Amino acid sequence: MKQLTLLLAFLTGTNLLADIENGKAVFAANCAICHTVNGGSAMGPDMNIVSYTRKKEDIETYAKDPYSLYEKFGYSANAMPTLPLEDQEFKDVADYIDSLQTFKKWMKKKKS
Ligand code: HEC
Repeated sequence: MKQLTLLLAFLTGTNLLADIENGKAVFAANCAICHTVNGGSAMGPDMNIVSYTRKKEDIETYAKDPYSLYEKFGYSANAMPTLPLEDQEFKDVADYIDSLQTFKKWMKKKKS
């Protein structure tokens, strides 16, 4: 099984499971001071809810540049800072947040 995962990672150039693991670490280090997973609203919204309501691409885009998107996302003000992370870290943290609710994809709203 491990060999298969490695082969897939080699063939596709990605390894979603490793990305999710890395994203979890990125989240713990950079996001968890303001966001919980299943702990309700803190300074920002609970990521368990965000996983239901947002598409992975939108989570990544918001994490990268909250200032240019806060109105589109329905906020009247922007308190989330623009964080100095690598593109890959934003992608991985979005993979992680998206993975929290993959089994309920059909419940996701279509809005972005
Ligand atoms: C200093 C606190 C703070 C930190 C750190 C922070 N956020 Fe936020 N986040 C917020 C606040 C407050 C909001 C509400 C909107 C706003 O103020 O821009 C928000 C909103 C969001 C949203 C939009 C949620 C939605 O569906 O409406 C996403 C996605 C998000 N944050 C992801 C992240 C990720 C990923 C990280 C870490 C890489 C992170 N945030 C770090 C405070 C923070």
